[in-house]
Amino acid sequence: MRYARCWRGSPGSHAMTVSVEQQVEQVASALDAAGLFFGHGTDNAFDEAAWLVLEACELDPSGDAIPWDQPLTGDQQASVQALLERRIESGEPLAYLVNRAWFAGHDFFIDHRAIVPRSHIGEWIPDRFLPWRTDRPAASVLDLCTGSGCIAVALALAFPEARVDASDISASALEVAEINIARYAVQDRVCLKRGDLVEGLGEVRYDLLVCNPPYVSDAIMDALPGEYRHEPALAFAGGASGLDFINRLMDQARDHLTDDGLLVVEAGSAREPLEALWPRTPFTWLMSENGEAVVFALEAAELVSSTRQSA
Ligand SMILES: C[S@@+](CC[C@H](N)C(=O)[O-])C[C@H]1O[C@@H](n2cnc3c(N)ncnc32)[C@H](O)[C@@H]1O
Repeated sequence: MRYARCWRGSPGSHAMTVSVEQQVEQVASALDAAGLFFGHGTDNAFDEAAWLVLEACELDPSGDAIPWDQPLTGDQQASVQALLERRIESGEPLAYLVNRAWFAGHDFFIDHRAIVPRSHIGEWIPDRFLPWRTDRPAASVLDLCTGSGCIAVALALAFPEARVDASDISASALEVAEINIARYAVQDRVCLKRGDLVEGLGEVRYDLLVCNPPYVSDAIMDALPGEYRHEPALAFAGGASGLDFINRLMDQARDHLTDDGLLVVEAGSAREPLEALWPRTPFTWLMSENGEAVVFALEAAELVSSTRQSA
């Protein structure tokens, strides 16, 4: 989430009251000074401060029309202070403290049972993965490793013609997914499944298989910022090189895709070891808004020719 700054004066220009703008500046300074990590919906102290203030003051947190000049009541200032203290003292992602996360333009419920939605994959869902996928209808779609269900719900909204299966090994994460599926009233088209990887999906072949898997290597796991330690480790841990799950998916994905199906996977920090281990696979790396290219797309036919490097 990004909040457009709207400078109309110095922070000291309203002598007697504290405006939203002044409060946001004060909170941003406190967040910066606390040395927190910003990566769960925002990527800097100002955006996180704006979100925190709007949530605490019960103002619209979507950023559509921020009332920068509005004076805050004493109760609102006290609420801001209380939420700021919780954020700093607990080190928890703000998303967990306010039970909200934005993904692909939609607002999701979130709590500790699932990781905070932030996959780069969300950038291409509203455009139905064009131009990497032809815009023919997608009858069947799979969100593997669904967590909070954010990708599955966003897919269901972007592909109104599709039936979406949403699978995860974690029963607690699936409880959160159920909440989000009900929130967007897509129960008739999104089906939750529990299982290890594609276990339990049967013989279905998908036109689109999307997956944000666990891909964090052991070494990176050890160095993750404190905020990540409030999220389920199962969502991150990808083994020694980060490829434990992705390798299994690469071996099995073709059997679950239609002949002209598309596989879209976030590989994150495992991109380099992945390319080294699968040198003949023609990965197409999708460029994110932040300049990272850590999500790949592969046509079903390209998977047929994929071969893992022998040890
Ligand atoms: C990185 S999270 C992605 C969650 C969600 N799709 C998102 O983007 O916010 C990875 C998810 O994979 C699930 N997971 C881990 N190992 C799995 C396995 N062997 N089979 C199926 N799901 C698994 C975790 O429970 C977690 O919800």
